[in-house]
Amino acid sequence: MASFLVSLLLLVLQKYATPFELVNTSFGTTLDAIDLDPVLVANVSEDATSSPPPGTSKRTPHSIIIGVRKGGTRALLEMLDIHPEVAAAATEVHFFDWDENYAKGLEWYRDLMPYSYPHQITIEKTPGYFTSPLAPERICAMNSSIKLLLILRDPAERVISDYTQVYFNRLENHKPVQAIENLLVRSGSLNIRYKAIQRSLYDVHMRNWLKHFPLEQIHIVDGDALIHDPLPELQKVERFLNLAPRIVSSNFYFNQTKGFYCIRSDGRERCLHESKGRPHPSVNNTVLQQLRSYLQEHNQHFFRMVKRTFSWQ
Ligand SMILES: *[C@@H]1O[C@H](CO)[C@@H](O)[C@H](O)[C@H]1NC(C)=O
Ligand SMILES: *[C@@H]1O[C@H](CO)[C@@H](O)[C@H](O)[C@H]1NC(C)=O
Ligand SMILES: *[C@@H]1O[C@H](CO)[C@@H](O)[C@H](O)[C@H]1NC(C)=O
Ligand SMILES: *[C@@H]1O[C@H](CO)[C@@H](O)[C@H](O)[C@H]1NC(C)=O
Ligand SMILES: *[C@@H]1O[C@H](CO)[C@@H](O)[C@H](O)[C@H]1NC(C)=O
Repeated sequence: MASFLVSLLLLVLQKYATPFELVNTSFGTTLDAIDLDPVLVANVSEDATSSPPPGTSKRTPHSIIIGVRKGGTRALLEMLDIHPEVAAAATEVHFFDWDENYAKGLEWYRDLMPYSYPHQITIEKTPGYFTSPLAPERICAMNSSIKLLLILRDPAERVISDYTQVYFNRLENHKPVQAIENLLVRSGSLNIRYKAIQRSLYDVHMRNWLKHFPLEQIHIVDGDALIHDPLPELQKVERFLNLAPRIVSSNFYFNQTKGFYCIRSDGRERCLHESKGRPHPSVNNTVLQQLRSYLQEHNQHFFRMVKRTFSWQ
């Protein structure tokens, strides 16, 4: 029975995989810069094969972590999972980008959610949604009062982290790689068409979300703050989601060796780690300054849009 369900899931994945970007749900492949040990992350296919605990059901999410890629989305989801009233899922499936048979897609999406009790809320994360042109409209059609979580970090750092992930993925797949400067600069000037830069234009993407959702429905988590001191950021999220304050300081301890926080809950321990210990490249300082000065204007525009500032350089 279990293996039948696994095959069925794979079949469904294959079936839906062709027309739109389906990110492999295997957790080893898509790591955030600030990430958790992939082996300790909950398992979608495993969840689908076990029989549901009595009194639970699958529901479309009450809240979605919409991005940003490399912003610390997995860390945020894992930390929120400490809360007893949260059922967390990392589907990373871009089904909202798919045009055909929306209703069927929705059913399939719900099926990827974990079983949850009526007193729990389900939180899903798909980091690609933030930069997807279709996601805001589709998510709004699914549930216009859904609460959205967006975790952001310094957009220049995000570019480098994005590059680093792609770099190591290409190395693993024996594809040619380039120095970051070759991607950032074309004929002497900043290559603003580089996708990693495009994804860091937070104002451009946010404008698209604000066409469909009021600002109050999108809570922005400061990713840099979350990593250096998780609790205050998580308490803000608890308030935003109307959850009782159940995440406490003893859920975290700092590992000096790693230089990151570890999570302690339900007798389990999970540690943040820098992308499998992958080092970031050192970027030519002239090029980095070019990138930062280009992003600065977009950042200022974003701050006005969200009526809030961040300590990005
Ligand atoms: C997902 O990735 C794993 C490991 O990288 C690979 O073995 C598997 O075939 C992939 N599955 C799909 C559906 O692409
Ligand atoms: C995830 O599911 C696979 C297949 O059912 C299983 O072999 C693996 O141990 C699971 N991983 C975790 C972390 O539970
Ligand atoms: C829509 O989202 C809101 C906010 O999380 C939630 O209260 C409501 O139950 C959701 N509706 C559906 C149909 O899931
Ligand atoms: C801290 O991190 C180191 C290096 O990864 C690890 O060997 C050690 O077990 C960790 N200590 C705790 C208390 O988690
Ligand atoms: C950095 O790049 C600039 C051109 O963009 C070049 O003139 C300079 O020599 C480079 N610096 C180093 C240390 O490589």
